[in-house]
Amino acid sequence: MASLGQIYNLTVDASQSGRPIPPNLFGIFFEEINHAGAGGLWAELVANRGFEAGGQSTPSNIAPWSVIGDAASVQLSTERISLFALNPVALRVDVLCSKCPAGGVGVYNPGYWGMNIIAGSQYKVVCWALSLDDRNISISFTSSDGSRTLAQQYVSLEAASSSQTWNKLEILLNPSDTDHYGRLSITATQAGVFWLDQVSAMPLDTYKGHGFRNDLVLMLQDLKPRFLRFPGGCFVEGQWLRNAFRWRQSIGPWEERPGHFGDVWGYWTDDGLGFFEFFLLAEDLKATPIWVFNNGISHTDEVSSSVIQPFVQDVMNGIEFARGPANSTWGSIRASMGHPEPFSLEYVAIGNEDCGKQYYHDNYIKFYEAINDTYPDIGIISNCDGSYRRLDHPADMYDFHIYTSANRLFAMNHQFDSTLRSGPKAFVSEYAVTGKDAGKGSFYAALAEASFLIGIETNSDVVEMASYAPLFVNDNDRRWNPDAIVFDAWQSYGTPSYWVQTLFKNSSGSSLLPSIITGKDSASNILAASALRRFDDDNGLEFLDIKIVNFGKTDVLVTLQIFGLLANEINQEAAISRLMSENIMDENTFSQQQKVVPKMETLQGAGANMDMKIPALSFNVLECQLITPLHQLMFSQSNSRG
Ligand code: AHR
Repeated sequence: MASLGQIYNLTVDASQSGRPIPPNLFGIFFEEINHAGAGGLWAELVANRGFEAGGQSTPSNIAPWSVIGDAASVQLSTERISLFALNPVALRVDVLCSKCPAGGVGVYNPGYWGMNIIAGSQYKVVCWALSLDDRNISISFTSSDGSRTLAQQYVSLEAASSSQTWNKLEILLNPSDTDHYGRLSITATQAGVFWLDQVSAMPLDTYKGHGFRNDLVLMLQDLKPRFLRFPGGCFVEGQWLRNAFRWRQSIGPWEERPGHFGDVWGYWTDDGLGFFEFFLLAEDLKATPIWVFNNGISHTDEVSSSVIQPFVQDVMNGIEFARGPANSTWGSIRASMGHPEPFSLEYVAIGNEDCGKQYYHDNYIKFYEAINDTYPDIGIISNCDGSYRRLDHPADMYDFHIYTSANRLFAMNHQFDSTLRSGPKAFVSEYAVTGKDAGKGSFYAALAEASFLIGIETNSDVVEMASYAPLFVNDNDRRWNPDAIVFDAWQSYGTPSYWVQTLFKNSSGSSLLPSIITGKDSASNILAASALRRFDDDNGLEFLDIKIVNFGKTDVLVTLQIFGLLANEINQEAAISRLMSENIMDENTFSQQQKVVPKMETLQGAGANMDMKIPALSFNVLECQLITPLHQLMFSQSNSRG
């Protein structure tokens, strides 16, 4: 146990209502990175469902699909005979055996490092198939090694004729057994040829039936995110423009989406989680969508401003898709996808980390003018840092990213103290401790991030919005460290950084109270603190929240003085949520998911003057319920009635 160190004074002025904190201050950043969407949030179980991932020239690599049977009994190849013009490749299965093994021969898909197949759940399998003969095929879920059948159905295919070519098969599979890392098999026992294309398997139970993996959305909900920035990051830019995310290719029926290879993070995505689905997710989370679009610039190549107009038009079409009326050209496609009401779209970001690029400035102006002329209400976010100098172009916000060490991020609590107080505000859309301090999501990193976020609260007159580094990492494809939520085919947990964010979920839209922390030593070397006042809409109660990070190695005593409230205006019982851990580099893991999570304590004797021991290396949120005169009246009335 560390010895009790210095005494510090924290003074909070609650005599006034305080300065409003922006309503959308804390949100989330989704990037298609680490298989966050494909093989993650998007509940599709089949990887490379259209056989396009190996490229559209044949022969093409069909991985991760693999063969069931030996070379003498079955052969797999690719042919460009698909029904779907943008996805020409289909899989040809030549069944060679006349006396095939009982289980048949064919092909299986292991999903994204296994499919979570649960007994008692239902799964919808959709698949396109073409056969030269009438035949039966088996569609089944099996265990990871194929030895156990978890669910199975036989489907008859009609032989191709002039009136019938491709069969669309739709079945429900009801597993009677469980394997968290199962696979989908399609087999036949009759010699001959058939083709497969666009094979999908989804659990029926997805969030609101919208296709999102339930457990992962619930974790997002617990952050109460006020905005959703999507779909990246560098994913938006691409290593090369030809591989950048294109919104138009990611809408409409899933079979017709070509998918693309995200060359920055090095994997193929079928784009099931497309432009439409991002808006749907934002709507489900009650979060404001923030679309980051490509401005004709990738990591390697750029479109010159003289020929950028088609890109500008493409973005204007994307905005119309999102918020145009159902009878508009692009809004009608959204309506045909089941959302006739326009989505909300209040902010767009022109590019990602592109400020220094040759054509950024001139391209930016072209996008800005086109959007602003037609949609003057849309807030436009620049990639150029306006925190230390005035931007030379119009913008409603500027994007600010910071990945650094724990010590530095702790100290960046003061980053925005001396920022220009006029001009566009900051959108801190990516922040995190990285490098050796971060591990795969350490407590140490989270503590420094808590300090940085306190600085965002206290500077929320110049910081409009903030979100952490990428949300998700599939543990099998860790391309970026750290991330907020770790998952595999069936389990998920929050890193300590995730848990820090849950402790800021009530800040957006509250009121910041002036507060100052002083002590013998320079308090700001080890402590960071803020105070805010908020109404809880769920229960109609009012709270005073005080956040304190102790980044030092000794416990300290904080003497808290709250001005402007009478002793009887604070409920004597207060709650403290405290995040701390035995070792600073502690992390959560699949086997210890709750190793570093906030612990709740009750504090008796809360009041306008109180002493609090703040342990070494800890983040503390004190929640004092305020008993305002209105509440006192209600209490005294109910007491006198009782
Ligand atoms: O968050 C991971 C990457 O970091 C993002 O793609 C990029 O914006 C930043 O450099």
